[in-house]
Amino acid sequence: MLDFKVSPQERIIVALDCGEARALALATQLKGHASWLKVGMTLYYQVGPAIVARLKDMGFKVFVDLKLHDIPHQVKGAACALTHAGADMLTMHCSGSLAMLKAGEAGVREAAAEQGIIKPITLGITVLTSINEAALNSIGVMRDCNDQVAALGKIAYDAGLSGIVCSPHEAKRWRQNWSDAVIVTPGIRPLSTKNEDQMRTATPAIAIKDGASHLVVGRPITATTDPLAAFFSIKNELTNVAT
Ligand code: C5P
Repeated sequence: MLDFKVSPQERIIVALDCGEARALALATQLKGHASWLKVGMTLYYQVGPAIVARLKDMGFKVFVDLKLHDIPHQVKGAACALTHAGADMLTMHCSGSLAMLKAGEAGVREAAAEQGIIKPITLGITVLTSINEAALNSIGVMRDCNDQVAALGKIAYDAGLSGIVCSPHEAKRWRQNWSDAVIVTPGIRPLSTKNEDQMRTATPAIAIKDGASHLVVGRPITATTDPLAAFFSIKNELTNVAT
C-alpha cells in the first residue's frame, strides 16, 4: 500500500517524446490541467537545458529522463547539472552499479544544497518496459524480468534514491518491499490503445492498484487527435481507483 497520498492529476506524467514545436504546443494544451511533463532524450538533445526552464515557467514540474549511465564521476557531474537546470525528477540506470548511483545521488544533493532547494526525486531505471524475457536473455541476463527488477531495485534502495522505474507488472512486489518509494511505471496503455514498442504494459487503473505512485504516459495522450481529452480520460480512470 502506498503510504503517501498523491492526487490523480499529480500521478500522471506526460512524456513529450517529440521536437520542440510539438512539445510546446502540447504543453500549451495541457497547461493548468497536467502537473508533470517528461523531457526525454529526443527533446533534451534537440533543445538542451533551456526546455526545462521553459516548461517550468509554464507552471509544470519537469521529469528529465536521460537515464544516466557512465562512470561515477561523470554521472555525479550530470546529475548535478540536471539539478541546476531545474529537474524535479531524474533517472539513472541501476545497472551502472551501486557506486554510480551513490555518486549521482551525491551530485543531486550537493547541487540542491548549493541552491537551497528540496532535492529532486531520483529514480533508478530497472528493466525497460520495451524489454521482455527473451530480450533480457539475449543480452546475457538469465533471470526473468521480475527477478531482475528486484535485483536492480535493491541497488537503488541501497544507494538512497527516492525510488525506481519499472513496469506495472513488477510494481506490486516493490510496493510491498519499499512502502515510501516513488514507483514510476511507463508501459501504460488504456484499454483499446496499441502497445507499439512496449512489452510489459497495463491499464492506468491496474498500475495504480498494483502500487505505482506515478504513471508515465506518452503516445496514448500525445499521439491522439485530442491530447487534453485523453489526459482527462486517464485522470478520470484514476479518480475511481481506491488506493
Ligand atoms: O509513448 P509511451 O507511453 O510508450 O512512452 C513511454 C515513455 O516512458 C517514453 O518516454 C520512454 O522513454 C519512457 N520509459 C519507458 N520505459 C522505462 C523508462 C522510461 O518506456 N523503463
